[in-house]
Amino acid sequence: MFKNLWRQRVQLVEADLLKELRRTQSLDEKISQAMEYSLMAGGKRLRPILLMAAADAVGVSGEKFITVADALEMIHTYSLIHDDLPAMDNDDYRRGKLTNHKVFGEAMAILAGDALLTLAFEVVLRQRDVPPEILLNVLREISIAAGVAGMVGGQVIDLRSEGTAIDFATLKLMHSGKTGALFKAAIRSGAILAQADEKILNDLTRYAENFGLAFQITDDILDVTGDAKILGKATGSDAKNLKSTYVSLTSLDEAKHCAQVAVDDALTALNDFGTEADFLRELVTYLTAREK
Ligand code: IPE
Ligand code: IPE
Ligand code: MG
Ligand code: MG
Ligand code: MG
Repeated sequence: MFKNLWRQRVQLVEADLLKELRRTQSLDEKISQAMEYSLMAGGKRLRPILLMAAADAVGVSGEKFITVADALEMIHTYSLIHDDLPAMDNDDYRRGKLTNHKVFGEAMAILAGDALLTLAFEVVLRQRDVPPEILLNVLREISIAAGVAGMVGGQVIDLRSEGTAIDFATLKLMHSGKTGALFKAAIRSGAILAQADEKILNDLTRYAENFGLAFQITDDILDVTGDAKILGKATGSDAKNLKSTYVSLTSLDEAKHCAQVAVDDALTALNDFGTEADFLRELVTYLTAREK
């Protein structure tokens, strides 16, 4: 049931992403190809799926908000294209394929990232049947989460922490920014679109924060223990770049323990929900045991 719904929604998101991309006017075919290459390269599609699942948990079918969900995947894909650039993590594989800059060159990869980020905001505005004031709230969530108070800010801490011993508070701040912020925006946007009340929004926010933490700790673990073929990206990238991660700052066992604590806290945040939040419950548990 959980896996089926996930699979079904991945298909829905992929078809819709392609539709939104193809209806976008572009002055140049090459940039459109570069955008499509990374956007349609696969991936777990977690941010759009979380947005929809959060709306479901509030009692409104998340599929109504697929257009906003697409926008989150565009922002995420842009962040991956830039994260892989030689000036950042310098990685050659992503989602089982050569990274964007390896195929299209660095300049085009930078521009493809820029274009996906910008397109995301245009796509939010294509969302139908949502009152404008609600869409404005969602735009605020997403724009803040993508910027220096969120994803970009976390990436900056990540880069500045290479080769230095940061403290645990900085590590948590880095994770909450680079990974947590977009997950939080996805879940809060789904809840806001479904017109959740304050209490439900707060509970889902707490779930989201712990989900993001558990997810990035697991990403750090998989960089050490994972199989590059299954992951679709290189392992050992963090060690190569002298990154500060949960594993490098603690140990493999301690990192696993921290991920489990975050999963438990995420589940506790859903205590007042019924079966409508089962997907969210299963997802966070599944993702900490994942191989990709
Ligand atoms: C990878 O994100 C980058 C991180 C934030 C850890 P995902 O693991 O969600 O990547 P895809 O979208 O499935 O490729
Ligand atoms: C990247 O974190 C997070 C963002 C892209 C914002 P990582 O650098 O750990 O992600 P991977 O391991 O390359 O996917
Ligand atoms: Mg990185
Ligand atoms: Mg990276
Ligand atoms: Mg990583």
